[in-house]
Amino acid sequence: MTGKTAIVTGAARGIGLATTKLFLEEGRRVAMIDRDAEALQAAASDLADVLPVICDVSSPDQVDDMAKQVEAAFGRVDALINNAGVADFGPMEQTDFQRWRTVMATNLDGVFLCSQRLIPALKKTRGAIVNIASISGLRASTLRIAYGTSKAAVIHLTQQQAAELGEFGVRANCVAPGPVNTKLALAVHSPEIRAAYHDAIPLNRYGSEQEIAEAIVFLSSDKASYVSGQLLCVDGGFQSTGIGLPALRS
Ligand SMILES: NC(=O)c1ccc[n+]([C@@H]2O[C@H](COP(=O)([O-])OP(=O)(O)OC[C@H]3O[C@@H](n4cnc5c(N)ncnc54)[C@H](O)[C@@H]3O)[C@@H](O)[C@H]2O)c1
Repeated sequence: MTGKTAIVTGAARGIGLATTKLFLEEGRRVAMIDRDAEALQAAASDLADVLPVICDVSSPDQVDDMAKQVEAAFGRVDALINNAGVADFGPMEQTDFQRWRTVMATNLDGVFLCSQRLIPALKKTRGAIVNIASISGLRASTLRIAYGTSKAAVIHLTQQQAAELGEFGVRANCVAPGPVNTKLALAVHSPEIRAAYHDAIPLNRYGSEQEIAEAIVFLSSDKASYVSGQLLCVDGGFQSTGIGLPALRS
């Protein structure tokens, strides 16, 4: 045991669950946060040293209650991983205000609310925040008016956090995953999108949850003690590549 702790939102499955398991391997206690009570209990049931807390990160009251539970149980917060996210792909004209707000509420408000509530605890440990954005926050593409915009905002929010919290020794960084075969991606990645990713990613494949988790755990750790305000794309080379890749391959 390192004595250190981490809070992972959206921990019931996918990237959040993989990150939880990696933190546990490193000896941290982990507060697993999710609004899906059933999935959260199932995921936490065979893990030791975890504290499952049912919480919708878009609700200020629930976030406050979650933070109180974690602080009472663990006594310290060394890392906050703002990973909970939702995806809803649709054309601009069909993205009504409710759909827009639903995406923003979790993807952007949730990151703001959890971080703000936990700043006092993170200052005490000189801890770290890692926000999970997406390559969709860096490159515009069709159908992602709400999702892409929410993730672009998360990238900038990270820089604001790094600028303001640095003097307290708190680091803030962002991970932008490429496509990963989670429930979220399976719901919105059509066969056409999957084929396009295959062509546009130099490594020619989707990433795994574990590959994203490795970057998150690194940025949370002392090995990244002088890294703050950064965006790390874990995307098989997608972000760094311009036009011509599919043509070269064919
Ligand atoms: N899978 C991908 O291809 C991909 C690519 C880029 C970025 N991401 C980002 O990675 C993060 C994790 O995604 P994933 O693919 O593991 O998704 P997932 O759907 O498998 O898991 C997301 C988890 O977050 C929880 N959640 C959603 N809204 C919540 C809320 N308001 N409060 C609390 N919990 C909530 C869900 O219940 C679920 O357990 C997301 O922020 C997503 O946008 C994923």
